[in-house]
Amino acid sequence: MDIGLSLGQNKHMASSVDGFSKWTKSEKIKWVVDTYASDPQAVTSLLEAYWHPDPQTQQLHDEFIENTLTNFYLPFGVAPNFLIDGVSYTLPMVIEESSVVAAASKSAKYWASRGGFHTRIMGTDKIGQVHFTRSGSPKETQQFFDRIKPLLLQSVAPLVANMEKRGGGIRSIALVDKTQDLPDYYQLFVRFGTADAMGANFINSCLEQLAQTLKAEDPSLTVVMSILSNYVPDCTVRSEVSCPVEDLGGVEGMSAEAFAEKIKQAVDIARVEPYRAVTHNKGIMNGIDAVVLATGNDFRAIEAGVHAYAAKDGRYTSLTHCSIEDGVFKFWIEVPLSLGTVGGLTQLHPLVKWSLEMLGTPSAQQLMGIVAAAGLAQNWAAVQSLVTTGIQKGHMKMHLLNILNQLGADQQEKAAMVEYFKTHTVQYQGVVQALEDYRKKQ
Ligand code: MEV
Repeated sequence: MDIGLSLGQNKHMASSVDGFSKWTKSEKIKWVVDTYASDPQAVTSLLEAYWHPDPQTQQLHDEFIENTLTNFYLPFGVAPNFLIDGVSYTLPMVIEESSVVAAASKSAKYWASRGGFHTRIMGTDKIGQVHFTRSGSPKETQQFFDRIKPLLLQSVAPLVANMEKRGGGIRSIALVDKTQDLPDYYQLFVRFGTADAMGANFINSCLEQLAQTLKAEDPSLTVVMSILSNYVPDCTVRSEVSCPVEDLGGVEGMSAEAFAEKIKQAVDIARVEPYRAVTHNKGIMNGIDAVVLATGNDFRAIEAGVHAYAAKDGRYTSLTHCSIEDGVFKFWIEVPLSLGTVGGLTQLHPLVKWSLEMLGTPSAQQLMGIVAAAGLAQNWAAVQSLVTTGIQKGHMKMHLLNILNQLGADQQEKAAMVEYFKTHTVQYQGVVQALEDYRKKQ
């Protein structure tokens, strides 16, 4: 195979390639660095430096996806002191944003001393659809569906048998007439229980079988596609913290009552104002995604479902809510979370396995409660900073090490700068100046 020939002449010109996926890993690396790197040797060394030292573990990672060249590191941190339904947890979090883990930990500790987080599972139904077109009247299609429904269920019986033993299976199957929206368009709308699995493969396999049976019963109809939905408004969890208003304590010169009111105002603004709601919810997702990633779940599915849920009433709104009634402050989140603690990466990725062990090998429903608490904690931390000191103070304090690393500070310089910035405001130019001054003095 002649790889690399005639490459590298113009590193910025897009290059196309045939049969790439069949090449060996080193052939792929050679082609990529020859084509795109200004210093191929240095980039090859960089890619190799991020390989796992144990070849078997590296191969495991290589095989998660296609065309793996190396690993992409993200920090794996922990947030201790989460009291959730009376159980104390340390949450694994995978995230690059500097202040997130610190904020989660701070909130967790704050609420642990006020009773902790309380979870309610509101539902666990997941949805899948077979989208098809069929000519004729909707009434006749309904009669057709009523007639073949037992056959549909019978055809997936072997696929659902195992899931039924675990408490899941098909919960309902209905015909939805969408002919008002698109000519001849119908759906099989199927509700699934997937026990402790996220269930994507199970759902999609069932749907494809249902589609085959549907087509076999009426070859004149057209199956367009069969796929689960990541919109899961009936697979939701509520997590709540609450305490008497006076137990919130005074913050930054504000009385507990004034602090409670200001938090509520901020949450109410996110409820009525979409520009704010998006950022408010982004802060929530800082916590949710970090635990979702650490536990090997699909954060894109979670993100898609959560934001659709936030807009379910026709206007994008806050996922968290706040009330002050009879002297009691309540703060809660309601969020759709389709999570798994078996299947997928959970038994494969060594750090995912460890994350789940650290969480006490939770069921999917317990994990829903844990993840929702992470989101609520994150939102509490953000909103309470926003309505008191502002976000930059804490954020820049955590970002200080990033700036110092960028400036090539050594350990001694970092320690000196961290000390200095305990009493000074962190801001990029200020750090540059302070480090320069410190270096001059050494
Ligand atoms: C930053 O990642 C998240 C925040 O902007 C969230 C918020 O404003 O509520 C701080």
